[in-house]
Amino acid sequence: MAELTISGLHKSFAGTAVLKDLNLSVHDGEFMVFVGPSGCGKSTLLRLVAGLEALDAGEIRVGGTSVQQLPPAQRGVAMVFQSYALYPHMTVADNMGFGLRMSGQSAAQVNTAVGDVAEVLQISHLLQRKPRELSGGQRQRVAIGRAIVRRPRVFLFDEPLSNLDAALRVQMRAELARLHRELGTTMVYVTHDQVEAMTLGTRIALFNGGRIEQVGAPLSLFRDPANQFVAGFLGTPRMNFIEGADWAAAAQTGTAAPPHQSTDTLGVRPEHWKLATDGTGLRVQLERVEHVGDALFLHTALRGSGQSVAVRLAPDAIAPAPGSALSLQAVPGHVHVFNPDGRAQARTALH
Ligand SMILES: Nc1ncnc2c1ncn2[C@@H]1O[C@H](COP(=O)(O)OP(=O)(O)OP(=O)(O)O)[C@@H](O)[C@H]1O
Ligand SMILES: [Mg+2]
Repeated sequence: MAELTISGLHKSFAGTAVLKDLNLSVHDGEFMVFVGPSGCGKSTLLRLVAGLEALDAGEIRVGGTSVQQLPPAQRGVAMVFQSYALYPHMTVADNMGFGLRMSGQSAAQVNTAVGDVAEVLQISHLLQRKPRELSGGQRQRVAIGRAIVRRPRVFLFDEPLSNLDAALRVQMRAELARLHRELGTTMVYVTHDQVEAMTLGTRIALFNGGRIEQVGAPLSLFRDPANQFVAGFLGTPRMNFIEGADWAAAAQTGTAAPPHQSTDTLGVRPEHWKLATDGTGLRVQLERVEHVGDALFLHTALRGSGQSVAVRLAPDAIAPAPGSALSLQAVPGHVHVFNPDGRAQARTALH
């Protein structure tokens, strides 16, 4: 077990900066989740930590020791790839034991270590098979097993569950959480799945264009986003942003407290609107209704500017007819206000 510390990290590919002065501490035993749009540098950072790519500047420390000069096998980190990257000609047992054999352990030691880990992952009966004789979920377990047998100080997971079907993802998510509890090893985990990020992470680091926008506990990022990017990234459908003149109009109709400037942007999540019956609030026109089983979504357009505003209601709510004029009120305590530069202001309590 070890802390992972990244300081002043820079990385460019062919003159294009991909990671820009990155600083991050992942605590000993923590489950850190990386999220962010495609191409923002998440995999590149994992590859730099694993030693599969060289950095341009900065320092990477594992358990207090600088590792950027060390070859991958000596860094104390193990990486699990989205593609699994198993050797097709080797059995499961040989795939899992490969790293240990390379580090000079005896056949008996390797067998014992592989057998123990296979039991934990419930793949003992598959040890003599080749990867092509396994399902996707079984291959994923082998890839995780291969990382575990090396007893790394830090695990790096790059979207390990994204090739699995929805039911298997839920099952593997629970198993990863259990593994983390049992092993207590520091883990860094990249995902595009918001549920995985919210449920597995001790903390989330949200990346954008080679920088980290915010690091914190999942619920704190969700409830108190530091800026408009974070607010819009976490949550589906995403937070509604209402700009300029409409914000002023909303203030006049009682939806929001008046002390803010009309240059600010108002942010309200779809689940934090209610339909007003007294005619006060934000005036919108209903465009489309979606029943998705556990919720009813109203897709509306602001009267005047036409900005779209999504509303989430309980599944048994009665949907108004498309074309209806509606008034929306934000739930008190759930209104976010952003400066023109995107920074969040203290949250507004409404009366
Ligand atoms: N070997 C490489 N050579 C040149 N450019 C690269 C290389 N590897 C990555 N990049 C570029 O670096 C940027 C970051 O890539 P990276 O794979 O780290 O993104 P990511 O955040 O993991 O995205 P995704 O969510 O799609 O996996 C991208 O613009 C990518 O095209
Ligand atoms: Mg990636």
